[in-house]
Amino acid sequence: MAEKEVVETSEAQIAVHWAEEGYYYPSPQFIAQANMTDPAVYDRFSLDNFPNCFKEYADLLTWYEYWDEILDTSDAPCFKWFKGGKINASYNCVDRHLADKKNKTALHFVPELEEEKIEHITYQELYVRVNEMAALLRDFAGLKRGDRVTLHLPMVPELPITMLACARLGVIHSQVFGGFSGKAAADRIVDSGSRVLITMDSYYRGGGLLDHKEKAEIAVAQAAKDGQAVDKVLVWQRYPGKASSPTPMVDGRDYFVNDLLKDYYGVRVEPEKMNAEDPLFLMYTSGTTGKPKGCQHGTGGFLAYVTGTSKYVQDIHPEDVYWCMADIGWITGHSYIVYGPLALGASSVIYEGIPTYPDAGRCWRIAQDLDVNIFHTAPTAIRALRKVGPDEPAKYNYHFKHMTTVGEPIEPAVWKWYHKEVGKGEAIIVDTWWQTETGGFLCSTLPAIKPMKPGSAGPGMPGIHPIIFDDEGKELPAGAGIAGNICIQNPWPGMFQTIWGDRQRFVDTYFARYCKDPNSKDWRDWPYLTGDAAVHGPDGYYRILGRIDDVINVSGHRLGTKELESAAMTVPEVAEAAVVPVADDIKGKVPDMYIALKPGFEASEEMTKKIMTAMITEIGPIAKPRKIWIVPDMPKTRSGKIMRRVLAAISNKQDVGDVMTLANPEIVEHIQGMASK
Ligand code: WTA
Repeated sequence: MAEKEVVETSEAQIAVHWAEEGYYYPSPQFIAQANMTDPAVYDRFSLDNFPNCFKEYADLLTWYEYWDEILDTSDAPCFKWFKGGKINASYNCVDRHLADKKNKTALHFVPELEEEKIEHITYQELYVRVNEMAALLRDFAGLKRGDRVTLHLPMVPELPITMLACARLGVIHSQVFGGFSGKAAADRIVDSGSRVLITMDSYYRGGGLLDHKEKAEIAVAQAAKDGQAVDKVLVWQRYPGKASSPTPMVDGRDYFVNDLLKDYYGVRVEPEKMNAEDPLFLMYTSGTTGKPKGCQHGTGGFLAYVTGTSKYVQDIHPEDVYWCMADIGWITGHSYIVYGPLALGASSVIYEGIPTYPDAGRCWRIAQDLDVNIFHTAPTAIRALRKVGPDEPAKYNYHFKHMTTVGEPIEPAVWKWYHKEVGKGEAIIVDTWWQTETGGFLCSTLPAIKPMKPGSAGPGMPGIHPIIFDDEGKELPAGAGIAGNICIQNPWPGMFQTIWGDRQRFVDTYFARYCKDPNSKDWRDWPYLTGDAAVHGPDGYYRILGRIDDVINVSGHRLGTKELESAAMTVPEVAEAAVVPVADDIKGKVPDMYIALKPGFEASEEMTKKIMTAMITEIGPIAKPRKIWIVPDMPKTRSGKIMRRVLAAISNKQDVGDVMTLANPEIVEHIQGMASK
């Protein structure tokens, strides 16, 4: 009997299909002050005017030497933007603001403990601190243009200061999310070839001071085992001059940054004149295999794109107070806390802790105290705030003009609460859809031009031309009402340049599927596969349904199922592991883990704990499964493939469909029995 084709689990399959919503319109007050009010922008950025339209974004930056070729496609699909241009990101985010803004706050740092004072760092102070750190990195750590350095820092101002110091020297920074484990940091140290690790001794999370330095020990030891020696660990202290971590410093390897900085007092470092296409940073993200991918972002293209979108979508003006609650350890923080806002001379808020510490009113007190008027967060945080304190926003006197949602689809009910309660009915909302790979927004409304529609991200951004293909490569027309694979027809400046050290994987993962001719040097032949499923409405708005690959979006964080499974497989008793996404009220999706043990081992509470611990040590607490099911066997096809679709149906309490073609259909009922208990 012919075997039925194995359909792997995709989030789109279990995605919610919401009813169509009506439009919400921006207020005349918002429109009157908005940075972009000209509907002709969509014509200026039409495909006919591609790629020259992006000059408009490049011209928001200060160049040492102006570029002469806007888009070089000779090495397609590794596209180069603004060729011939010379630029420095640190100069654009710091130095160029000194003339008229040196006295203005660049970063407001809000410590998690409410009794600790908020720190207001002016552009002048940022300039001094970035320069002194750059001098230290150059003269003490021996870092130079093109070197990679791994950062494993929490949400503190020292993180953007370190990033900008790297950018000043042309050193490629690779910041690893602070919540990731030492082992996860090690993988990224090895892949990027970093011989310097920059970390912090501790930071606050949920009211407690966490020992973060201990992760550096694990990272360095593991990296050495895997062939990458780290010869210097630079440790910022949460409280300079005071020990906040019990983990000892290693002589000749570990140094406190704040001690070393004394030697660089007053030193100024000339910014390197970087080529527009030189890499600025790496950001690792999850994919279909266990190995994270180092997305390489360029300097000129990335900076132009995030500056333009910060100005026109985030609507940042110099007098605004802008708070993006994401972690700088993710792409959102790189693009829309650090590079975009600072390039515009904004005042950007950095909050160390969790949104609900010590209570559900914390965010709104921060907003009130700093008079924040632009707020940027993810559906997960909105759902959590709505659950714990639905009436809290009304108790505080703040007024947002603008709010963003990013990272996952947002349910219309949650959107409406965000609009009515958090935005007090006054703020416009942009639902921005994009990815680590894309550097900046792909779909969103332009807030003063296009109305909002709950549950839909909106049209493609100016200059971004999405297209939805079915599995055969046929284009699905707008209004078809059918989900398909959303791609982008054209390259854009914010797009990543390649996967660090693995061009083949870059081509295979993102382009091979719909590439018209693998030898082509014409960008039209290289549609970019986003890996998301989407529906295109008759009004031109896109509704994003979720991933079509083996990636689970937990609280807006991307986790590869293979990565989670390999973490469980480090437990010697585990024979097989399968991870499936389960719908969750707050986090959007959470992973359920199914485990089959090797013969001779029995399910027990200790075994479950052991697997749970492995998830935390290998990846970090965000990887904790909702449940670990130790099952006698996995449902399998006759060729031995684990049927994750069946497991996902069981976890989501849905119909498992026809299982009679499985090699072991009886196991399905057994697992259903376990899950219903
Ligand atoms: C999902 C985060 C629906 C999507 C910036 C994408 C979204 C993945 C939205 C990228 C949105 C992001 N609506 N889904 N507004 N924004 N996503 O790389 O599945 O961490 O592919 O980048 O998040 O996650 P990443």
